[in-house]
Amino acid sequence: MCGIVGILGHAPATPRILESLKRLEYRGYDSAGIAVHDGGELIRRRAPGKLSALEEVLSENPLSGNTGIGHTRWATHGEPTEANAHPHMTDRVAIVHNGIIENFRPLKEELLKKGASFEGETDTEVVARLLTSYLDEGLAPKDAFQKTLSRLVGAFALCVLIKGEDDLMFGAREGSPLVVGLGEGENYLGSDAMALASLSSKLIYLEEGDWAELHHDSVQVFDAAGNAVERTVTISQVAATMVDKGNHRHFMQKEIFEQPTVVAQALGRYLDPNAGKVRMPHMPFELATVPKVTLVACGTSYYAAQVARYWIEKLARVPVEVDIASEFRYREPVYADGGLAIFISQSGETADTLAALRHAKAAGQHVAAIVNVMGSTMAREADLVLPIHAGAEIGVASTKAFTCQLSVLAALAVDLAAAKGQINEEQEAAFVQELETAPKLMAQVLHNDEAIEEIARSIAPARDVLFVGRGIHFPIAMEGALKLKEISYIHAEGYAAGELKHGPIALIDENVPVIGIAPKDDLIDKTVSNLQEIMARQGKVILLSDNAEEEAEGMFARLEMPSAGELVTPILYAIPVQLLAYYAAVEKGTDVDQPRNLAKSVTVE
Ligand code: G6P
Repeated sequence: MCGIVGILGHAPATPRILESLKRLEYRGYDSAGIAVHDGGELIRRRAPGKLSALEEVLSENPLSGNTGIGHTRWATHGEPTEANAHPHMTDRVAIVHNGIIENFRPLKEELLKKGASFEGETDTEVVARLLTSYLDEGLAPKDAFQKTLSRLVGAFALCVLIKGEDDLMFGAREGSPLVVGLGEGENYLGSDAMALASLSSKLIYLEEGDWAELHHDSVQVFDAAGNAVERTVTISQVAATMVDKGNHRHFMQKEIFEQPTVVAQALGRYLDPNAGKVRMPHMPFELATVPKVTLVACGTSYYAAQVARYWIEKLARVPVEVDIASEFRYREPVYADGGLAIFISQSGETADTLAALRHAKAAGQHVAAIVNVMGSTMAREADLVLPIHAGAEIGVASTKAFTCQLSVLAALAVDLAAAKGQINEEQEAAFVQELETAPKLMAQVLHNDEAIEEIARSIAPARDVLFVGRGIHFPIAMEGALKLKEISYIHAEGYAAGELKHGPIALIDENVPVIGIAPKDDLIDKTVSNLQEIMARQGKVILLSDNAEEEAEGMFARLEMPSAGELVTPILYAIPVQLLAYYAAVEKGTDVDQPRNLAKSVTVE
């Protein structure tokens, strides 16, 4: 989603803004722009496409000036053209914006009636023109900005410069995150800690409805009612050095290969192998009395929730509901008194998941957030935060965050089972021991990556690919299909293996690869029968299994997996499906780390 950076500084702003925008590239974007204060004027450069296109524009027409704002835009209203790129400007203001102004149409009509003219089709331009109209009426900048905010409906983060006011920058947060960075005689605004990593580690996370007035030597935060408020200054843990790809070709590849390390790191925070116990952080509620668990998330995080349902229901015998966040609150869910609602999100900012979290909190549920980004809005609003310790994930397609989410969820399922008295100490110790084996087994799977690459090359020309699994591996099939769609643009679907014959089997012919996820468990025979049905119709079956005896005849390919227990297999089988998608995308030459149309942190509903 859109990235924002603002610098009220003492050194040339453009190279510093560019560096910060590069740190925000991982969020996904399709155009970019910068505006600076220069000699009393506001001047901007914009370009559709990647930051390299903006850099080219800047090398032909450089910008000077020490104060400026920059933006990477993920298109919502209007195509990713130069005219729609931010900053949006009038003769008096320059604005960058993340989010959506829902009432932009009536505001635009009102402004048109007053004689304003518009250059593009974006909702952001309406904010620029509205603010300008209040300045034109003679309001002081602060009053004009506050009055503008009071007219806006929607989710947004804004960063604003006003012509002639080169010691002034405004920021506002309503629904989309915005962070103030504090410097020495300089101050900054950014979408997240990552944007400000090279500028400042002293951060103020704005709260909903907050807005901020920045000068070189001071920052004042106001709440929605306009009262000056004190907000906590936190010290960012994000390293100033740019996260790099190391020896890997893409961030996604690096992140896939990091998984044994980060999963070990995550498990290390939640397991005490010596005591044979799970060690969760202090919980502000009694786990033993939780009558029901609600799991809510989007995208890959949603599939982690799906896996967790199997674990929690089987081990702890607590009923679990799993929902896609964008659907959750609209179906008017029935909560159980004292229920635990868990929100899973790598970024901790996904708008739908956040809205669902607030819905559950307002309904009196105990609210837990499983997040990667500490300091994120979900982490700050939940009663209980379970960090996944995956480290910065840059590839838009989530990989290591998924396996770390699964690790934390597995530990939680065991803890809940123990709290409920469904497992005894010996069983808990056995589960802890089993989870401890995950990193080593994951490394074994990664050693097999050449075989996976070869299979991936063979599926790269396909138009459609199916992934099938049963039980706890059904969500892994869906995650495999999502990964393949996201980065290789091959149409893929994940199905419960038993459901194929109720429709999707009609798609099968000799051109359709079917990835069968079939570890040796109680369901393997049934899954393999379903794969036989596919082979009987010439489908190209690719089997992922640890069952060496399984008949390979008629199969297009098979990948030998290590054997593991039920808490570890979903974590292990996530790896080959990630690598299949990765190598298929490389074979097709797509932009693996920033696939078209996708954003890493989706802050609009
Ligand atoms: C976006 C990303 C997905 C991610 C989903 C949920 O759609 O492209 O990779 O799984 O958001 O993100 P979250 O940060 O809430 O886990």
